[in-house]
Parts: sequence; C-alpha cells; structure tokens
Amino acid sequence: MNILVTGSTGQLGLALLDQFIHSDCNVRITSRGKPDNANHFNWVHSDILTGEGLEEAAKDIDVIIHAATSPMKNSKSIDVTGLEKFLSQLQHIKHFIYPSIVGIENIPFKYYRHKYEAEGVLKNSLIPYTIVRATQFHSFVQKMFLSKPLLKRYFIPGDFKFQSVDTGEFAQHLIGLINVGPQGRIDDFGGPEIMTLGEMAELQIKVNKEKNKVISLPLPGKLSKAYVAGRNTNGTRKTGKVTFEQFLQNRRFY
Ligand SMILES: NC(=O)c1ccc[n+]([C@@H]2O[C@H](COP(=O)([O-])OP(=O)(O)OC[C@H]3O[C@@H](n4cnc5c(N)ncnc54)[C@H](OP(=O)(O)O)[C@@H]3O)[C@@H](O)[C@H]2O)c1
Repeated sequence: MNILVTGSTGQLGLALLDQFIHSDCNVRITSRGKPDNANHFNWVHSDILTGEGLEEAAKDIDVIIHAATSPMKNSKSIDVTGLEKFLSQLQHIKHFIYPSIVGIENIPFKYYRHKYEAEGVLKNSLIPYTIVRATQFHSFVQKMFLSKPLLKRYFIPGDFKFQSVDTGEFAQHLIGLINVGPQGRIDDFGGPEIMTLGEMAELQIKVNKEKNKVISLPLPGKLSKAYVAGRNTNGTRKTGKVTFEQFLQNRRFY
C-alpha cells in the first residue's frame, strides 16, 4: 500500500514521519519545505495554493493522511478551495484521512469555519474518507500561549479550557485507521485531562523550574467565551494517555 502524508513539516506531519520511519510502509511525503528527515522518505515539493506538485505527489497513492493546513494565512484558499481542487485529482484514492478539530462548528474563529467547510467538501466528494477530530495538541497550546513570557510573566487568558493531546498519540491513531479503511466521521480523539490555561502555565513553571508568574487576563468577546466554556473539549472522549505534564517532561519538539 502506498501512503502519502501531506503537511510533512508541520506538528502532526513530523509526528507521523516519526512513526513511519520505523515501519516498512511505502510512504511519500509532501510540503513546500523539506523536513530534516526527508531522506528516509520520498519527498515531493508541492503547494496547495497553486496546485504545483500535487499530481506528482498523489500518483499511484492508495491512502492519504492530509496534515497540510494553513491556520493563519490563506486558510480558505488552502484548507477549503485548495482541498477541493486536490480532491478533484484523487479519483484513484482508496482512503483519504482528514484530521479535524473538536468543536469547530461551535467556536467563532475563521480558521475553524474553514475547517468545518473542508469537512463538508470531503463529505460531498466521491472519495472514501475518514474524518477524525482531535483536541488541541500539547505543543500547540504551549507555543501559542505559554512559550513567551514577558518580563517573567505569562500574560494569558487563564480561564480558557484545553484538553490538549499528544501529537504522537494522535499520529498513531491516524496510522491505525489505514488498516481499518474509510469510516466517514468517527469519534473525536481528546487528551486525557481538561485544564485551564492558568493551570497549564503553572504546571510548566513547576516542571521547568521557571521563575515566571502567571498573570491571568480575561478576554472579551465570543471567541473568548467559547474557550472559557470549553467548547474545544470533549470530556466523553479522553482517548489520549499522555498528559500535558508528561509532554513537558519529555520535551518533544512536536
Ligand atoms: N495544532 C493543533 O492543535 C491541532 C489540533 C487538532 C487538529 N489539528 C489538525 O491537524 C492538522 C495538522 O495541523 P498542524 O498543527 O500539524 O499544522 P502545522 O504545524 O501548521 O503544519 C501545517 C503543514 O501544512 C503545510 N502547508 C502549509 N501551507 C501549505 C501549502 N500552501 N501547500 C502545501 N503544504 C502547505 C506546512 O508545510 P510547508 O509550510 O513546508 O508547506 C506544514 O507542513 C490540521 O488539519 C489541523 O487542523 C491540529
């Protein structure tokens, strides 16, 4: 079976490569940048915005894990219309595995609206698919909110809730879906604990023996309300085992 991983330089892409490197699967990878361990795989340059390289990347492929995304820039063109064009070239694909995000239809954030649209595009295509939504990755929460203290203070919306999950565990789950085959939308994949961002920051300070302090700043607006209410979590799907504390102790890069 020939497998293509898109987004091979991203957080999820790198976690997927880490798992595939020890397997005997025939894996091709694609992104605009070249990941450090590209030599272990067949890397093809592609750009979803222009369509360049996608046909070559998908040639003779059976299963795609689509980890390419662009949350901050051109998300409509890459995650929705780019996906639509990509799918139109994939009549030969037996299984398109699409990682999505928990709560996207209930959180007023442009990128999430585009992810939801992308799920619809895939559902309306003729490509056999599996959609699996995950909660935020540990590394994402850490990078977005915790990694840059200012004057030894983390100024964060401390009431935001997260159920962050280990990227490696999610990657393993996605790889496991290859042998199961297309199933449509399946159960969410959530992290083991729901915590406030304030609690996560305190944990990071403890584990890293930092001198930083947490200054919690409530944020106004609907987006903020959605995170405070934990609409990005799914307490019935605490599937992941690796806690945020264990992630911090292991100091993984993705
Ligand atoms: N991050 C989270 O907390 C989280 C949680 C749940 C689900 N997810 C989902 O998991 C998937 C992967 O997310 P991630 O956090 O790993 O993303 P990421 O770190 O932002 O990586 C995005 C990947 O997409 C590639 N990419 C961006 N623009 C591209 C373009 N024009 N053409 C081709 N490739 C392009 C990037 O590579 P180049 O720049 O080298 O092209 C990179 O490899 C997404 O579907 C996301 O919604 C993420």
